[in-house]
Amino acid sequence: MLREALEFLVSPCCRRELSLAAGPGKSSDIDVDEGTLTCPCGRIYPIVHGIPVLIREETLSDPVFENNRKTWNALWKKTRDMASTFFTSGEMFRYDFQCDNSIATGAVVFEAGVGQGKYVSYLRDASPAWLIGVDAAEYLHEIWDNLKSGPRFSCKICLVRADLNDLPIRSGKFDYVIASRVLHHLPRMDKSLSDLLSLLKPKGKMLAVVYAAGGSFRHVIDAVERIKKILNVLCSLDQMYVISFFVSAVIYAVILLFYVPLGRFLSVRRLLPLGDVMLFWKKIGFRGFWKYIVFDILVAPETRYTVEEDLKKILSNLPVSRRSYRRQHEAMWSIELER
Ligand SMILES: C[S@@+](CC[C@H](N)C(=O)[O-])C[C@H]1O[C@@H](n2cnc3c(N)ncnc32)[C@H](O)[C@@H]1O
Ligand SMILES: [Zn+2]
Repeated sequence: MLREALEFLVSPCCRRELSLAAGPGKSSDIDVDEGTLTCPCGRIYPIVHGIPVLIREETLSDPVFENNRKTWNALWKKTRDMASTFFTSGEMFRYDFQCDNSIATGAVVFEAGVGQGKYVSYLRDASPAWLIGVDAAEYLHEIWDNLKSGPRFSCKICLVRADLNDLPIRSGKFDYVIASRVLHHLPRMDKSLSDLLSLLKPKGKMLAVVYAAGGSFRHVIDAVERIKKILNVLCSLDQMYVISFFVSAVIYAVILLFYVPLGRFLSVRRLLPLGDVMLFWKKIGFRGFWKYIVFDILVAPETRYTVEEDLKKILSNLPVSRRSYRRQHEAMWSIELER
């Protein structure tokens, strides 16, 4: 962990400044590999292989948090071959936010829920001044090791293991906050959005994508959520991986046989049920669809889908100077907010 990153961190217990002590090992005047961060109240948080773990003890022993962390960690490990594909190429980022990584050049950027790190490496390539990424899963270590062993980078990066419901990050420090596909896994999207907004400097921007539900898609989601609950009780993660393969194969065949040929005609495409999302899935290829969409949807813990009416209400209550959202496809909202 870069010592300078302390300026962005606060304790999760009291939101106060932390004092850093390097442990024995590979630490220097610039970097601390192993050590501790201590809150004035006396609570101590470890730095493990360069990653501060700013999570309260009571959160770490909470079975819901533990189950979420474990599931995400296992999912990222199982699909680690996807870490450098379409998803890291920037195409996905442009699709999500209709801009590229140049927004990050020279900026102070925060990413909530870095997952497998697809946007960390893409944003790193644009040389932000600072990039701070938070996730609860220890898969962060793999991302960090890959970054360090990859091409040299000039920007300052700090990955932090933390609970997004209890953000140990200082307010008012960031030009950009990115939250891709994470807010719908948190218990209260309105609170999470407002917590993340508070990290922004005045005029700072937040870009987020969240799961949508609406129209006929609502029924699909309800059915999937019901089946998913049963499957996750009966099957191991490995079995879910195989089930996801077969489910994906069937849906993908339908996409190739019907949606692709018919989707060539815009007017027909509009009439196809779930036409936009099906054609998006075609765009990301079978492997991406299987591992990043179907497997993810089938094993992800606690997922909420937002209908337009609720999204409008949530956004209108936020203290922002500008707000906009657009429907990416039937399954996703893309949101842009300015503090
Ligand atoms: C669907 S993934 C999104 C990952 C990445 N942003 C992307 O677009 O691929 C959700 C991520 O949020 C993280 N997450 C979920 N709940 C969290 C929480 N309460 N605190 C910290 N991270 C959390 C999970 O560990 C997971 O990596
Ligand atoms: Zn404290």
